[in-house]
Amino acid sequence: MSNERKILVTSALPYANGPIHLGHLVEYIQTDIWVRFQKQRGNTCTYVCADDAHGTPIMLKADQMGITPQQLIDKVSEEHQRDFAGFMVNFDNYYSTHSEENREFASLIYTRLRDAGHIAKRTITQAYDPEKEMFLPDRFIKGECPKCGAADQYGDSCEACGATYSPTELKNAYSAVSGAKPIEKDSEHYFFKLENFEEFLQGWVDTHVQSQMKHKLNEWFESGLQQWDISRDAPYWGFEIPDAPGKYFYVWLDAPIGYMASFKNWADKNGVNFDEYWAKDSDAELYHFIGKDIAYFHTLFWPAELHGAGFRTPTGVFCHGFLTVNGQKMSKSRGTFIMAETYLNHLKPEYLRYYFAAKLGSGIDDIDLSLDDFRLRVNADLVNKVVNIASRCAGFIVKKFDGQLADELAEPALYAEAVAAGTSIAEAYEKREYARAMREIMALADKANQYIDAAQPWVLAKQEGMEAQVQACCSMGINLFRVILNYLAPVLPEVAKQGAAFLNIDDQSWDAIQTPLRNHKINKFKPLMQRVEPEQIEKVIEDSKQNLQAAQANAPAKKQSLEPIADEISFDDFAKVDLRVVRIAKAEHVEGADKLLRLTLDLGEGERNVFAGIKSAYAPEELEGKLTVMVANLAPRKMKFGMSEGMVLAAGPGGKDLWILEPHSGAQPGMRIK
Ligand code: MSP
Ligand code: ZN
Repeated sequence: MSNERKILVTSALPYANGPIHLGHLVEYIQTDIWVRFQKQRGNTCTYVCADDAHGTPIMLKADQMGITPQQLIDKVSEEHQRDFAGFMVNFDNYYSTHSEENREFASLIYTRLRDAGHIAKRTITQAYDPEKEMFLPDRFIKGECPKCGAADQYGDSCEACGATYSPTELKNAYSAVSGAKPIEKDSEHYFFKLENFEEFLQGWVDTHVQSQMKHKLNEWFESGLQQWDISRDAPYWGFEIPDAPGKYFYVWLDAPIGYMASFKNWADKNGVNFDEYWAKDSDAELYHFIGKDIAYFHTLFWPAELHGAGFRTPTGVFCHGFLTVNGQKMSKSRGTFIMAETYLNHLKPEYLRYYFAAKLGSGIDDIDLSLDDFRLRVNADLVNKVVNIASRCAGFIVKKFDGQLADELAEPALYAEAVAAGTSIAEAYEKREYARAMREIMALADKANQYIDAAQPWVLAKQEGMEAQVQACCSMGINLFRVILNYLAPVLPEVAKQGAAFLNIDDQSWDAIQTPLRNHKINKFKPLMQRVEPEQIEKVIEDSKQNLQAAQANAPAKKQSLEPIADEISFDDFAKVDLRVVRIAKAEHVEGADKLLRLTLDLGEGERNVFAGIKSAYAPEELEGKLTVMVANLAPRKMKFGMSEGMVLAAGPGGKDLWILEPHSGAQPGMRIK
């Protein structure tokens, strides 16, 4: 093709600390469809990606698992690539941000920005974990919500009441890493002066982002562009800043540069000139597919960095919305937080590829995977409509005509109409209006089925002397099937491939359908797709719930923040506490109390009624008959459920992990403990 385009496409680089889930796949499937379409059109299109392998969460996760960060990212990279391959996401190169190419580009871009005066340095104060000896990102600081008092809330917002605040406002804050109380500490940081690029960005944004994004960006411009903190102190898992020992590039500095690094790695292996794609005067197109949560990085920092360092800037940043399942945020407890691997254990990847395509537009609206709709839609469109065209016609051709299609098309006008529809379908793919493309393709499938309904080959086949008509109308049906399959090829690569084997064709380029199949021999038809059954979906949900339980069982025990030691007391104060061995004569549930048990304690002479908050750890029947220790001279307290006459001693972090004291069985109720 003379007007062939040179296109470089990326998807966001998934973090190397967790598995690929269906939310991620919205993006990778969306991108892959676009890339396959471009290749089918005859354009030179290269699709690169990589794992985003740096940062504190990855460092700490490796630590927790007792492996090195390198071991963690190697393992995750393998899993990610397995999952992407499972969904037929066909990268030309899948790399890692922890690579030599990336180190070089990150250093180069930083140095150029610094030399051009776009880097500032200043000292800032941050939370620091004195035990682990590291600065704490907000999400690694926990404590009690300053608004509602809920325990164990993250440093930026409360899950209980929804309040947002800064980590310094948390009450009894502790480090989620060590449990230590964070202190404040100063350190010098490096900043990218984003404000230097305001004018450039205003112009760039105007023609390179979606209109919905422009509104968002205008808000950002109005609230003013802030300098961006691009450095982190050791210990940090990432690249050391060239002229600043002990300081590292913040993960988001080298992450988008990973696009370049992955491309460079591919270009070197394939004899392609890197500069042709990345130099300021490049005539190649560059597109980034991303989720809306990371737009700020891709529409402000990234183009500014590239521009400031003398590289070309993106042709387009394509932002998509978030996935919901059954109308709600993906949820682990509902079993709708579905990992790629779990889905693939029960369902074919192309069902999801089609469903996402049928739902995706070019905007940033969220998309919903409604599981019932998913099953019905895939069955109705792909199985009953598309594949059905071939299965209705193939048998006659293969059995009665030895696989030979007729010499001429029965309805050339209908065929021409189907080919002509390709212009609008191609335009829809190009603009990422896949939902429209799928609608138009299904309208063609309806027409093909109507044609076969009217021609009634199964009736003709029973009549004598109608052989030619049977062959003609079935050949027509097969030709329409071929056109539709060609249009669906970017979405259903495996079905398209198997369809090509059945049709005995090897050219599935976009324009191949210009020439219909006449006097052409096809192969025996095998069903190209099975129906989705409700049980398959139930199994996916079931397994997703089980994954959650397994993860909870494997999670390391949560470190508790220790309460500070109380004010010192004298020995005399302590001696006032009368601790006695008691026998638990009776233990009962208390109606309406979720934490308390009512204990009747035998003190040798006389009994005491005590309410103890140990229900999460003990069933009443385990306690009866046991010896334990109580504070016998505590002033009686009136509680909601009655009078509590003393207190039993228990220790532990809470929940199931709570233990009462159990004296040796030789002890006697009433004995004083000294
Ligand atoms: N590592 C960064 C991206 C760096 S790009 C230089 C990151 N990783 S991620 O693993 O959290 O997400 C990868 C991509 O998947 C992002 O574009 C993100 O928006 C997308 N999605 C993650 N969860 C998603 C949904 N639930 N729904 C749709 N897309 C989502 O961000
Ligand atoms: Zn709260």
